[in-house]
Order: sequence, then structure tokens, then C-alpha cells
Amino acid sequence: MHPLPILLAKDIYFIGVFDPDIRTFDIVMKTANGSSYNAYLIKTDEGVIIVDTVKKEFQDDFFHHVDALCSYEEIKYVIIHHIEPDHSGALPELIRRAPHAKVLISPQATMMLKALTNTEEINFETIWTNKQLKLGDKTISFLTTPYLHWPETMSSYVHEDKLLFSGDVFGSHYYDKRLFNDKVGDFSYAFTYYYDHIMRPFQNYVRQALKLYERFDIGLIAPLHGPILRENPQYYIQLYTQWSHKQKQSGQKILSIFYLTSYKNTQEMAQSIMEGSESVEGIITNMYDLASIEEPNMIKILEESDGFLIGSPTINADAPKPVWDLLSCLMFLEKTGKCAGAFGSYGWSGEAVEHILSRLKSLKLKVPPLEPLKIKLIPNTIELQACYNYGVEFAQILNGKMIEIDMA
Ligand code: FEO
Repeated sequence: MHPLPILLAKDIYFIGVFDPDIRTFDIVMKTANGSSYNAYLIKTDEGVIIVDTVKKEFQDDFFHHVDALCSYEEIKYVIIHHIEPDHSGALPELIRRAPHAKVLISPQATMMLKALTNTEEINFETIWTNKQLKLGDKTISFLTTPYLHWPETMSSYVHEDKLLFSGDVFGSHYYDKRLFNDKVGDFSYAFTYYYDHIMRPFQNYVRQALKLYERFDIGLIAPLHGPILRENPQYYIQLYTQWSHKQKQSGQKILSIFYLTSYKNTQEMAQSIMEGSESVEGIITNMYDLASIEEPNMIKILEESDGFLIGSPTINADAPKPVWDLLSCLMFLEKTGKCAGAFGSYGWSGEAVEHILSRLKSLKLKVPPLEPLKIKLIPNTIELQACYNYGVEFAQILNGKMIEIDMA
């Protein structure tokens, strides 16, 4: 597929490629509408700047676009905002073809650049916030926007055109060759889905990036995937602002108890824990049966929770699949500061609780060092009282009670 280079601002062209057939991205994302790998080319009377490249398997189309606009001798700079292979796949061949090109990357991308090109002999320079590139009539300010969604990610702003190259920020996996947001179909679902799966785990960093973007008068956003946002770009900035600021009622802490139960034993434990936690002022506790909750709802509930507990029976020495589904949702969330724990009833050996606790710790959640709450078969009155006490203690910790927490 060879769409012609598309002009998006004075002397700035889209030279990306379309991937309409991709249905899964990065293993975990569904891409029902395909995607695009956006790259750009800036022409000036002092030379050419390439902004990002594309996935290697599409590099022929990418070079076709470059060929249509300039000679490789003219390329002075290649800006790489994000070195993930869907944007750097064509970089080794581009460097080979463009003898005078200097690669501009964030310092965190240096090792990956060397690994990608398999050489130490690269003409490159590192860039960060407040550094500028001036070439011909274009002035580009670089912005360090890390963890959106890799440690090395960057954005940049072209002053003369009020254009923000945002990296993966404001992207969508949405193929539509009409390209501009005022021309393509309704991509709101894809835009939201992309935020939820790529940006949501890094909301602190989203807020930091938005603060940097505030310095500029943004008239056009050119992300690395999906539509270019030229009509009302502020709308998309507002969406990110809204999504990245949690609305919490002051002073309250939310504890969510997820449980899975075969014979209602783990459910009874959950109920007693809930009663205990609710006795602590300022704690709102909700219970959810993992057998009947959809993944998008799990993510939403986990995001709104200050702490959560997972109750699981043990089946064949492990926690059943719905528990692991819940745990896998944590990859889409900002986990900093969240408290977590586990409990469960079991028949023979009861390994599920330890497995869950181990997973929670490895994800760097705050797991209070409470005695693991495991009960053999049907909880008796004394054991239910222990569950109640556990709920009280966990809620107090959630409320700020000082305790040594093992974050190993
Ligand atoms: Fe689009 Fe994070 O690569």
C-alpha cells in the first residue's frame, strides 16, 4: 500500500504506513480497526528532518515516501521519540541510506539504539526538555515525557506550525487512510481503549507530560498511531486531563474485596472481612464475585480502589483462572501506593493465597505483613472472628496506620 506522502503543515509530511490487518498489538491489545505507524518528514532549505520511522516489515512503503520527497543526502536529522520496534524498525536501514543523518534520542534510549543498530558507530546525540533544534525555518523544542509508555519516550513541538509530535501519547490503534480526525470515522472507542491499555498505568507521567504541553500553543497533534488530531486538539488534551486525574472524595478510602467461591466458604470469609473493614471510619468496602465480573469492570474497580483483597479457593494447588485474570489486569493500572492482600478457604493444601501474595509483591503492591488468612474448609465462629479482625487491621493500614511493609 503506497499512499502518497500527505501534507499536514507547511513542509511537514506524513510518511507513515497503514496496517489495516493487524488484530492484536503487543500481545495484549485488540486492534479491531487495524493501526498505522505514523512517521513524518520536515523539509527545510538547510536539510531534511525525519521524525520517527515504522515497523520493519513496512519499511519499503516508508522509503517509498521518503524517496518521493527528498534525497538521502539531504537528511540531516532523524528524531526518534520512541524506540519500540513499531517506530524504529526502519531506522537501521535509514541510517545506512542517509550518510549525514544524526539520530536524536533521549538519553534512556542510548543502549537500545546501539542494540537495534548492532554497532557503537552511530552518529547520534541525546536530547531532553529545553533542548532545541533549529534547521532552516523550523524550530523544534524537545520534551522529556518518560514512561509514555517506555522509559525513553519523548515528545517535541514545532514552534512555527504549533505542531506537537506526541509519540504514543494521544495515539489510537485505528486505521483509516483519510488520516485526519475531521475526516476519519468515529475512532473514539479506539482512542479510549488505547489510553486505558497503554497510558493508564502511567497516569502520574501523563499528568507531568500534560504540564509540559501546557507551555505551548498546540494547534495540531501528530501521534505515532492513528488519526492526526488537527480539529480541536484541545478536546483530546482535555480527555487525557480528565482521565489522568482521579476524582476522589476527600478523606475516604475504598477497599475492594474480590472473591471466588466454590462452596461459599471463601465468600463467608469475604463477608466477615468486609464487616471488619467497614467498622473502621473512612473506609468504604465493596465486594465483587470474580465469577461474574468482566475485565473492563475489574480494571475500573481496581483503579478506583486504594486497596484490594483477593479471596480464592485452592484448586489443584493453585488459584483458579478468574483470579489470574484479575491479577493480569493490574498491568493496565498505576499501582503506586495501592495496598493488597489475599485470603481463602481450602480443602487440602491451600497454596492459592501464597501464590497470590507472591504475585502482588512482585508487582510492587504494598502487601501488609499480616498473617496469611487461610481457613480449612468451612470457617467456624472463631475463624470468622479472625476474618473480621483481619478486615479491621487491613482497613487501619489502608487508613494510614504506620506499619513496616515488605516491598521486596
Ligand atoms: Fe507505538 Fe509504544 O509503540
